[in-house]
Amino acid sequence: MQKILKQLEEKRAASYLGGGQERIDRQHAKGKLTARERLDVLLDEGSFEEWGQFVEHRSKDFGLEEQTIPGDGVVTGYGTINGRLVFVFSQDFTVFGGSLSESHAEKIAKIMDKAMQVGAPLIGLNDSGGARIQEGVDSLAGYAHVFQRNVLASGVVPQLSLIMGPCAGGAVYSPAMTDFIFMVKQTAYMFVTGPDVVKTVTNETVSAEDLGGAAMHTSQSGVADLALMDDIEALMQARRLIDFLPLSNREAPPCRKTMDVADRLDPALDTLVPKNPNLPYDMKELILSVVDDEDFFELQPAFAPNILIGFGRMEGRTVGFVANQPMVLAGCLDINASRKAARFVRFCDCFNIPIITFVDVPGFLPGLEQEQGGIIKHGAKLLFAYAEATVPKVTVITRKAYGGAYDVMSSKHIRGDVNFAWPTAEIAVMGPKGAVEIIFRGDSPEKMAMRVEEYREKFANPFAAAHRGFIDDIIQPQTTRTRLCRSLGMLANKTLVNPFKKHDNIPL
Ligand code: HXC
Repeated sequence: MQKILKQLEEKRAASYLGGGQERIDRQHAKGKLTARERLDVLLDEGSFEEWGQFVEHRSKDFGLEEQTIPGDGVVTGYGTINGRLVFVFSQDFTVFGGSLSESHAEKIAKIMDKAMQVGAPLIGLNDSGGARIQEGVDSLAGYAHVFQRNVLASGVVPQLSLIMGPCAGGAVYSPAMTDFIFMVKQTAYMFVTGPDVVKTVTNETVSAEDLGGAAMHTSQSGVADLALMDDIEALMQARRLIDFLPLSNREAPPCRKTMDVADRLDPALDTLVPKNPNLPYDMKELILSVVDDEDFFELQPAFAPNILIGFGRMEGRTVGFVANQPMVLAGCLDINASRKAARFVRFCDCFNIPIITFVDVPGFLPGLEQEQGGIIKHGAKLLFAYAEATVPKVTVITRKAYGGAYDVMSSKHIRGDVNFAWPTAEIAVMGPKGAVEIIFRGDSPEKMAMRVEEYREKFANPFAAAHRGFIDDIIQPQTTRTRLCRSLGMLANKTLVNPFKKHDNIPL
């Protein structure tokens, strides 16, 4: 017994030391925390239960048989965030560069299985050189086992990936299949192949930062949701996100007490929309005005900023916001905006989170680049996502709702539950000028001007849609929060079930 206890102590000490003090110092010198320090920040104090601390790799090649480190480069287990259960893995870059061996993968797979069985989110702290090169095909198999579980867990428990170091090769595909990706600025990279391979294959010279840094992935590729200053900020934001989410698809979203009353009016909203319909305004002001305590957790702020997505709470309960942003591209839907919002709508629908949609959209963005890029298929993603969603959907049209984009943005026709319009709403096939230029082509400028006014009078208002019941009520802007809260309260027990199918075939 004494002998075993001594061995136990030694092995634990070896596991805590990972790849050794020198490598830990190197990790710190780069501004990175170690795998265990990260878990200390992420989880409630003293809540972490570790599994698999004594797991070692079984490799006998390239000298690995001489090097075994208990834990094999990944710390796994469960703990709590603000008292709520989460499963975690944290890769240890000081041990073989956090690379994934067969045993390392088995540890991750074990907690993924348990997370699904008990119904709790999975958070991966990624810091890995990819497949452990010395292990060959065993490490590839290990990755595939993790990928398979990412897919099975999708829509069952929320999955969040934090990228906190270099992630290359297989190390990017598991995060890519999770729901949210946060990256740390300057120290985190994600690429399928690194700068050296790129140089060899395409002769392009590119830095790791340009090829796969946080700035690129959160503004251009859209692969990641947020770029954070450092490890601490990334971990704190992860805690904040988890607070908004249900633990699994079997649960309702969490409810947090608030002093912010449902019937709070905001007179400033009555003048938010400028008199001139061509002038922009900041849609974020509306979200911040209606949401509890002005607490809006925005995702992907730098990617496709013509649409806003993020979480907030209404009377304490989590909701997802989707809103056109007239400040960018006049709020048009383009390829990236459609992709961004579609995935968010689907996440909300998976996890029983009601969706509030604010609409000010002049249409889909016209142009060769958009058509060649497949705006038809990408725009259809958003239409598909809204139309299949069965969670409560409440929509407010603040100004323009033109053409196909009107249909797409959670309209009554695709099962919007409650559809409001502000008095400033214009619901039509297109803007008055564009419409007149098509139907009265060739008329004199004077006649055209008259026709524009006629069209504006007829359609540039909420009444045509309200007469048909496509709008449930025309509301004074300052009452928006109250009306949203009442609608969500009414919809709390909504049940709507789609026809049986194996799964749908969203236009990917
Ligand atoms: C084994 C690895 C490793 C790996 C790094 N190390 N990557 N060991 N397998 N994949 C080890 C290094 O030997 C080194 O060991 C330690 O980790 C730190 O690595 P450094 O290179 O010193 O660190 P740094 O300069 O920060 O560079 C980090 C890096 C680089 C960018 C990640 O190590 C790198 O490019 N690694 C290889 C990346 C890669 O090609 N992976 C395979 C992808 S293929 P010592 O003992 O010196 O500390 C793949 C296929 C899966 O993943 C596909 C599934 C779909």
